[in-house]
Amino acid sequence: MVSKQQKIYSHFVNQIKEGVLQSGEVLPSTRDLAKLFKCHRFTAMTALQTLVAEGWVENSEKTRYRVSEKVPVTTSKTAQLNSKKSAQFKIVRPKPEIFTERERFRLEFWGGQPDLRLFPKDEFRRILSATLEKTKPDLLNYGHIDGLDSAKKEIAGYLRRTRNLLDKEFIITNGSQEALHLIAQTLIKPGDAIAVEAKGYPPAWRLFESLGAKIIPIEVDQEGLVTDQLEKLISLKKIKMIYTTPLHQYPTTVSLSPRRRQALIQLCEKYLIPILEDDYDYEFHYSGPPPAPLSQETVYGIYICSFSKVLFPGARLGVIACDEQLKEHLIYQKYLVSRQTDCLSQLALAAWLKDGGFEKHLRRMRRTYEKRFLHLQDHLLTLQKKNDLSWHVPTGGMSIWVNLNQDSSKVAHRAKKQGVFFQDEKGMDYRGKTGTHLRIGFAGVNESEIDQGMQTLAECLD
Ligand SMILES: Cc1ncc(COP(=O)(O)O)c(C=O)c1O
Repeated sequence: MVSKQQKIYSHFVNQIKEGVLQSGEVLPSTRDLAKLFKCHRFTAMTALQTLVAEGWVENSEKTRYRVSEKVPVTTSKTAQLNSKKSAQFKIVRPKPEIFTERERFRLEFWGGQPDLRLFPKDEFRRILSATLEKTKPDLLNYGHIDGLDSAKKEIAGYLRRTRNLLDKEFIITNGSQEALHLIAQTLIKPGDAIAVEAKGYPPAWRLFESLGAKIIPIEVDQEGLVTDQLEKLISLKKIKMIYTTPLHQYPTTVSLSPRRRQALIQLCEKYLIPILEDDYDYEFHYSGPPPAPLSQETVYGIYICSFSKVLFPGARLGVIACDEQLKEHLIYQKYLVSRQTDCLSQLALAAWLKDGGFEKHLRRMRRTYEKRFLHLQDHLLTLQKKNDLSWHVPTGGMSIWVNLNQDSSKVAHRAKKQGVFFQDEKGMDYRGKTGTHLRIGFAGVNESEIDQGMQTLAECLD
């Protein structure tokens, strides 16, 4: 007959071999083992000491027994599982390379990066905690697909007040990326053509492509999207949607000229084409108030914006403003994709808007970013004395699109080696062409960091 001591010993050896217990895991106390195996504590202790003597278990802390860090178990289930061949799934949508965990650099000049070090965490923590305390259980439940009524009222009020979006209905989304998804899912079927800016926002292109859309790139110049080229294309080909960033064009920061703006609206109304207007950084405009979104001038305008820049990207808060009939379809898609947006972040944003804290923070950040913008520009003027640099002076945004008049991918590569990150043109060109521009972000870096980054840039230029 097997003794209790033997039973305890074999129980643990098997569990370790099978990978149920892994290196470092704590074993039950001798008191608990005695209860479990209905034996004397001394019997349990003797079994554990045998395990220690054979190297299965360690008890360096005297009181606690742990699975040894160096158990040579090769027949464990985990090892067996790991050695299994991976499954052969038939992937129907190709996956280009994306960075789920991006490489970090000592200094990063990302074009759209807000300075999250300056986000008033204590103030927002108080808002969040008060919000949770006051929220009725029903608001924490399912439902409210397009946003909680009270939050939507406050957020829509802010957007109407600041953007004059008077005749639109609103949906709160998980960032503007979800907004893009819902709109494309509703209006685009595989094979449909979407016109986009030839230098533009890759996450939108990749999303449209993943839904089977055909992307048609349209050039951008000093007046923004080249509407003449768009018109020619529309006369030749059925375009199902136009995706554009008219206020601070991504990545060139050029604002669509009033002439082109009217041309775009007329084209869309003539050919009944929806304009998907991505207004990702409306709040950061420095030369006075920005023009109202073009979506408020036409029923074909579907407006999206994001709170990633004023709050933080991880908050995942965005908005769609569109016509009432389209809203119903978008709500259905949202129900399918995510059911709703996180209720606490909506309510906290609404409370922060209501108590004025949001706009106070925004004013503070706008002043800070404007100073950084001017500081970066001073550096560029100094660099220009010795180098062939030129740039369009943006009326707003969080970056400057600088023409280095040399291969900007090479310059960015050299800077990376010195621990400084710049976005080069290639990654933002639909055809992936190497260009001569860098998109230099100034919002996420302070003056002294700009000094260091520009020193590195100077060293990396030919
Ligand atoms: C063109 C553009 N659209 C949208 C966004 C914001 O996206 P989200 O709201 O998904 O964070 C960004 C952020 O950088 C952007 O550059």
